[in-house]
Amino acid sequence: MHVNLTDWRAEFPILEKKVYLNSCSLGALSHRAVGYVQRFHEEWHANGAAAWYGPWTERLDQLRHSVARLVNADRDEVALTASVSAALASIASAVDYTKRKRVVIAELDFPTLGYQWMVRPDVEVVRVPSDDDATIDPARFAEAVDDRTAIVATSHVFFTTGAIQDLARLAKIAHDAGALFVVDAYQSGGQVPIDVKAADADVLITGPLKWLLGGPGLSYLYVKRDRIAQLTPTTTGWFGRRDQFEFDSSSFTFRDDAQRYEMGTPALPTVHAALGGGEIIEEAGVAAIRECNSMLTERLIDRVTAEGMRVRCAKNASERSAIVMIAHDDPGGVVGRLAERDVIVDWRPGYVRFSPHFYNTESEIDFAIDIMTGAAS
Ligand SMILES: Cc1ncc(COP(=O)(O)O)c(C=O)c1O
Repeated sequence: MHVNLTDWRAEFPILEKKVYLNSCSLGALSHRAVGYVQRFHEEWHANGAAAWYGPWTERLDQLRHSVARLVNADRDEVALTASVSAALASIASAVDYTKRKRVVIAELDFPTLGYQWMVRPDVEVVRVPSDDDATIDPARFAEAVDDRTAIVATSHVFFTTGAIQDLARLAKIAHDAGALFVVDAYQSGGQVPIDVKAADADVLITGPLKWLLGGPGLSYLYVKRDRIAQLTPTTTGWFGRRDQFEFDSSSFTFRDDAQRYEMGTPALPTVHAALGGGEIIEEAGVAAIRECNSMLTERLIDRVTAEGMRVRCAKNASERSAIVMIAHDDPGGVVGRLAERDVIVDWRPGYVRFSPHFYNTESEIDFAIDIMTGAAS
């Protein structure tokens, strides 16, 4: 029996008016998230800055706890950071590249991952190629990683193909060579289960913008407890200091926990929206969401391939997630035609991109494809 999560649809007003199939770009806004943000505004009205001393500081911690549960970490291994780029930059600044100059990434990773190291004159970035334009064979990583490698940094789910990487296998390749293993899990958090222990990740970054339904302005950084003391950043701010509220400007000592990677005042509206979105994901359950999204994804792939279209995705269904790239000569035109019928998808050069989430239905997928093929009246 298939998991059915469509009862959640009533939480998302956009679904009343649109067929929303672009969650890998921005997850839908829920009543629950809006409720949290409204509370934040009411507290701001009622108490001004005094709200920091009560609910707001507690909510930051509530969010760190929920992120810890999401990735199977402990609360003191989690930091709230401003963006995935900011979290990566902080980690990149914490590594000494004198003896090992190389950082190995995959050519399918989101560009900001490699940029962190491309700008550093002391680092040589090695890009692992894809043989099939959709996945990266772990053997290719093994060929590229050696005792010159400081870090292996790559995605859990590739933003451009939806392919899921075998993190435990990549961690072993990195660790056998004495390298650190850093994971960009922005495209998996909320749609594919994450277990930092099973993955043996040293660092993992995700955030609320996409599948976790919390909007822009924040990211989540996990650093394994044993690595925290070793990874001391060379960029910081007052949130990273031990005894932050001493306001001592004469010296700086880092906190001992992962909050050492936090810098300045976090985006509180996002913290609140993220609590609402995160609660829904936790209650629906990422395992159930994964099952539901797989069903939608496979239906989408079956339908478009039956129509003779090509999909850029992993060969094995178990390695696919809910980002589906459909080859097309005029992807922008297709996105425009779909938008005229209130169907929201996106495009990248050469591809129309669908990204359904658990709140979508098979009939929405069918409707979108019928418009694409001209079958819809
Ligand atoms: C996999 C992945 N990593 C990183 C980013 C960029 O994150 P940020 O803008 O928070 O730096 C994106 C944005 O879509 C992404 O898909």
